[in-house]
Amino acid sequence: MHRVTSLFLVTLAGIAFAVPSPRSTHVLHEKRAMEPVDWMRTSRLDGDHVLPMRFGLSQQNLHLVEEMLASVSHPESPKYGQHYSAEEIIETFKPSNETIEAVTNWLTDAGISRDRLRLSINKGWIHVNASTAEVEDLLKTEYHIYTHPSGAQQLGCHNYSVPAHVQGHIDLIKPTVQFNHRAGANLERRRVKPLPNIVSGPVVTSTDASIPANLANCDSQITLACLRALYGIDYTPVATDKNTFGIVEFTPQAFLPGDLDLFFKNFAPNMVGVRPIPVLIDGAVVQNFSQSFNFNGESDLDLQYGMGLTAPQPVTLLQTGDLSQGAGFDNWLDAIDGSFCTFDGGDDPEQDGIYPDAAGSPDSCGILVPPNVVSISYGQDEATASAHYANRQCTEYAKLGMLGTTVVYSTGDDGVAGFNDACLDVNDNEVGTGGTTFNPEFPATCPFVTAVGATQINPGNTVNDPEGACEQVIFSGGGFSNIFAMPSYQALAVSAYESAHLNPSPFLAGTFNTSGSRAFPDISANGANYVIGIDGVLGLVFGTSASAPVVASMITLINDARIASGKGPVGFINHILYSPIFAPAFNDITMGGNHGCGTPGFNATKGWDPVTGVGTPNFPRLLDIFKSLP
Ligand SMILES: *[C@@H]1O[C@H](CO)[C@@H](O)[C@H](O)[C@H]1NC(C)=O
Ligand SMILES: *[C@@H]1O[C@H](CO)[C@@H](O)[C@H](O)[C@H]1NC(C)=O
Ligand SMILES: *[C@@H]1O[C@H](CO)[C@@H](O)[C@H](O)[C@H]1NC(C)=O
Ligand SMILES: *[C@@H]1O[C@H](CO)[C@@H](O)[C@H](O)[C@H]1NC(C)=O
Ligand SMILES: *[C@@H]1O[C@H](CO)[C@@H](O)[C@H](O)[C@H]1NC(C)=O
Ligand SMILES: *[C@@H]1O[C@H](CO)[C@@H](O)[C@H](O)[C@H]1NC(C)=O
Repeated sequence: MHRVTSLFLVTLAGIAFAVPSPRSTHVLHEKRAMEPVDWMRTSRLDGDHVLPMRFGLSQQNLHLVEEMLASVSHPESPKYGQHYSAEEIIETFKPSNETIEAVTNWLTDAGISRDRLRLSINKGWIHVNASTAEVEDLLKTEYHIYTHPSGAQQLGCHNYSVPAHVQGHIDLIKPTVQFNHRAGANLERRRVKPLPNIVSGPVVTSTDASIPANLANCDSQITLACLRALYGIDYTPVATDKNTFGIVEFTPQAFLPGDLDLFFKNFAPNMVGVRPIPVLIDGAVVQNFSQSFNFNGESDLDLQYGMGLTAPQPVTLLQTGDLSQGAGFDNWLDAIDGSFCTFDGGDDPEQDGIYPDAAGSPDSCGILVPPNVVSISYGQDEATASAHYANRQCTEYAKLGMLGTTVVYSTGDDGVAGFNDACLDVNDNEVGTGGTTFNPEFPATCPFVTAVGATQINPGNTVNDPEGACEQVIFSGGGFSNIFAMPSYQALAVSAYESAHLNPSPFLAGTFNTSGSRAFPDISANGANYVIGIDGVLGLVFGTSASAPVVASMITLINDARIASGKGPVGFINHILYSPIFAPAFNDITMGGNHGCGTPGFNATKGWDPVTGVGTPNFPRLLDIFKSLP
């Protein structure tokens, strides 16, 4: 079993700082780019309300992130596969003493006594419980309660400021402007078409003798067999006790056991009764009292295909968030950053015991070792994240890559537009009516995750024909970030695309960020017409939500083969995806586009494109390449 650890907090009381801090004026530190769709600001937060404040301290050596990640991930690096230890990562990036001192002095000068402050063991955060009145004064802001039509509430402020002399030491402060996807508000949207009368799974007899009967309808009904045939997946794991594969779900989204068995009965009969291994993060529950597509669709889909494609590999379900709050991306990260919480002999019973919290849900910090692959089919409009929040989170994904974990995110289902087809205003990059600027999705835009777009078997075609970009029900999310600069691993591929197709550009100036920013997706897989067991029947779903676990499953199988031959997991794979010598390992997608914002979007073209990335995996070739690496 995994060791359960807590976030050990170190008191700051004993540390003396003699130097008085200079006084300086406040400067705006973070501001929400866009008001969250569907949430109403309903009232001012009471001044006595206690806020659990976390001050994120600036890390050192962040300029080394890309280089360190490349040193263990680039196929030509002599250190390929020699992943870092958690201790090495903490030591490299921990905030400096000067930073800890500057922030501590600011808070104590403002009247918050030193014994109220706690430094997290990784030295990344200072925690303090403070009244809303204290925080509003510290940050020169106002806190409000926001209410969702579902009745869910959360609190936050629209912007906040910090003194100029501490700004360089502060990464971000929580809770402030971050709006995490709660009440299912930002759940990756997929549409379901009910498929009545196929509960018993009738097999349509093929009219084409070259196609096995169960592959006859893959253009209208994707199954495990269709995916195996499409991508050449013919591999049964042998090192399952040493390998790990995690799938993240955010409460109240939950799988139903009956739905798994319905799917398995039809498409993987020997798996009936098999369940994921649940890891409950932050008081999570796999709830079953609210049942509908919106509550079960994502989890049912991810688990049925992730488990089905990698059997008999046990799949870990990272169920995140309790029923009252839900959770955000940082929450599942906290749970697998265990190594970050336990370093420094953190297992000290004198300091342990703060969590789990008897008053309610535990803060699940470091409750499991990072799985070798993690698949997450959720996202948010990048414009709803502040740059500080997005950058800090993105750096954590880079650290996971350095540790040897592959993090896979879906890219969204609205083409170049955001959730609900929303686009940005050209002037300020905020969502507005009639906006025409493309609206990319985070965390897919983080250069340190593998972003997965969606393809389809074109209508009337078979698994033997080239796929196109998905244009049924959804369009593959793709484009260019407004926060992240372009990582070097994709520079060649993206500039080849740009010079061939955007020079001259068919779009109006300002339609998307052309200043050399991170382009996505990296790779793609089928995302149309998935047959899933959902609320007791078989239904069809569409989305990059389907594509992500399929790619993650293939990486899991590749890890199995490597582990079986005494090698390590592949970790961050983007250097390999874009490496020209590995191009034969992908099926280039050259049909279709990703409509949105009143435009046809980008086109899938020869080579990398911002619709389908480098294309879909050719599994046998990809497996051979990864097996040949050290
Ligand atoms: C930072 O502080 C720690 C503990 O107070 C001390 O051991 C260490 O030497 C200091 N490092 C620097 C670079 O001043
Ligand atoms: C804040 O209050 C909670 C609940 O009482 C407590 O568990 C936690 O340790 C406190 N945190 C700090 C930094 O004092
Ligand atoms: C910050 O938010 C307040 C409302 O809390 C608003 O009045 C002010 O204009 C905002 N400032 C900026 C720079 O966005
Ligand atoms: C929910 O799960 C519990 C425990 O397995 C079961 O007893 C109950 O019948 C389920 N409820 C619904 C509505 O499916
Ligand atoms: C474009 O992206 C870059 C990062 O590559 C960012 O610094 C810049 O602010 C973005 N521009 C706009 C208008 O969002
Ligand atoms: C996509 O292809 C269409 C048809 O060839 C062309 O008109 C359009 O300019 C292309 N768009 C881009 C962004 O390449």
